[in-house]
Amino acid sequence: MIIAVDGPAASGKGTIARALARHYGLPHLDTGLLYRAVAATVLREELDPSSEADAVSSCSFEDYLLDDPWLRTDDVGKAASIVSAHPLVRLALLQRQKKFAHQPGGAVLDGRDIGTVIAPDAEVKLFVKATPMIRAQRRHLELRKAGLHTSLDKVLADIRARDDRDSRRSEAPMVQAPDAALLDTSFLSIDAATQRAIALVEAKV
Ligand code: C5P
Repeated sequence: MIIAVDGPAASGKGTIARALARHYGLPHLDTGLLYRAVAATVLREELDPSSEADAVSSCSFEDYLLDDPWLRTDDVGKAASIVSAHPLVRLALLQRQKKFAHQPGGAVLDGRDIGTVIAPDAEVKLFVKATPMIRAQRRHLELRKAGLHTSLDKVLADIRARDDRDSRRSEAPMVQAPDAALLDTSFLSIDAATQRAIALVEAKV
């Protein structure tokens, strides 16, 4: 069984994907991390994320980079959304994701284009969303807990800018697949959202 979980930043898709993987005993891939690793390599080499050639030359990163906490920062996330718009970057990461999705026994993947491009054949597709303000509040709280003090307005502006870039790009834009079930986590706790996700999976299989 392939479970595709797509949605914007801070929607809860990562938490839900991890919970589903645990619940069904399936391997999980956070595909955003791959784009973040490309972006981190670009930044570390002092290259330009908006240059397709610079970004493509950063696609063969070492896997241990995926565990680097730096990848989770907003600076890397922003650069990830810039490098991910380059068609050749998406192509360079395509086979790895397709192979993970189609391994024997199934898998859970989360990202922006899992249900549309990586695994259009997935048995279960979820599109997880929440209002921009609620996503910004979640992100703001996480940043404060990590000791980083930014204004809520700035976090909200960053979220809107990232949504905009991710949904307007020509290659594999973030969009709900026609056969994906919508899960709005705006007013759900993590537990409630997970239970709802499990119920949606059960309804499909
Ligand atoms: O999900 P996360 O915030 O870690 O993703 C970082 C960036 O990587 C996103 O803003 C998006 O531009 C890109 N991405 C993508 N396709 C995916 C996963 C992430 O374009 N499947």
